[in-house]
Amino acid sequence: MSAFSLEGKVALVTGGASGIGAGIAEVLAEAGAKVVIADIDAAGAEAQAAALIAAGHDAAWVALDLADETSVIDACAEVVAKHGAPWVLVNNAGLQHRELLLEGTSKFWDMTHAVNSRGAFLISREIAKAMVAGGPNVQGGGGGRIINCASTGLVGQMCHGHAAYLSSKGALAALTSAMALELAPHAITVNTVLPGGVGTPGAMGAQGPAPTGPGIRRPALGFCEPRDIGVGVLFFATPAARYVTNQMLAVDAGFSIA
Ligand SMILES: NC(=O)c1ccc[n+]([C@@H]2O[C@H](COP(=O)([O-])OP(=O)(O)OC[C@H]3O[C@@H](n4cnc5c(N)ncnc54)[C@H](O)[C@@H]3O)[C@@H](O)[C@H]2O)c1
Repeated sequence: MSAFSLEGKVALVTGGASGIGAGIAEVLAEAGAKVVIADIDAAGAEAQAAALIAAGHDAAWVALDLADETSVIDACAEVVAKHGAPWVLVNNAGLQHRELLLEGTSKFWDMTHAVNSRGAFLISREIAKAMVAGGPNVQGGGGGRIINCASTGLVGQMCHGHAAYLSSKGALAALTSAMALELAPHAITVNTVLPGGVGTPGAMGAQGPAPTGPGIRRPALGFCEPRDIGVGVLFFATPAARYVTNQMLAVDAGFSIA
């Protein structure tokens, strides 16, 4: 079953200090990956890496601010120097605050896009360069997996106040297609997971007007745990999924049938 194993491979997970990212990190570590948690919350990233190590896995962490290009470049250089070129990059970190359209500000828009879409572009560029170059942890001399975490809001489970958020996730989903095309010659696949209905610190603590809209209801199967999103990410991350690229997988406990 080695095609389903991440043994000997490095997985870089942004936003892995909290919520869904922490769940993704756990699942990838259980599949054998050395997980590097990349987060603006350095203490949280360190604690999450320590928890994975305590559970018997291989893990590390790096602090970075996805909104800051220099920080992203420096962190990626550090990761590649210490651990080799990652096989997996999960663009999970994101801001989920709300601001109603009629009260919308360019400052809020820019802040949301700086992390959710521009930050994902910056780190993907840096890590894809390392994947293309082929590092010591990239088996077979090249290739890789990039998985973008957008939102089930893109397929209709929307919430008022999500103009900036949803458009940043739309940009991330479009980035999937653009990257899938340009990276296919390097055997790097790029896919999107659409999470939904996960009671994380980020979702529960999002600032802005009270959440209303179609996305505010119980999904058919109940609410997801962060690890459930990790299972969707794991599918795209495995060597077995080598011919799966530019695809979207909603892991939202059945919003579409609720
Ligand atoms: N929770 C849900 O139901 C849900 C639904 C759809 C999509 N999502 C998406 O899933 C992802 C994870 O969400 P979550 O609910 O776990 O949120 P969360 O807030 O609990 O975790 C997000 C993590 O990203 C980190 N982060 C924030 N800004 C950063 C920056 N500038 N640089 C580096 N790291 C940064 C945070 O420190 C945190 O650890 C987000 O992209 C979110 O949009 C979540």
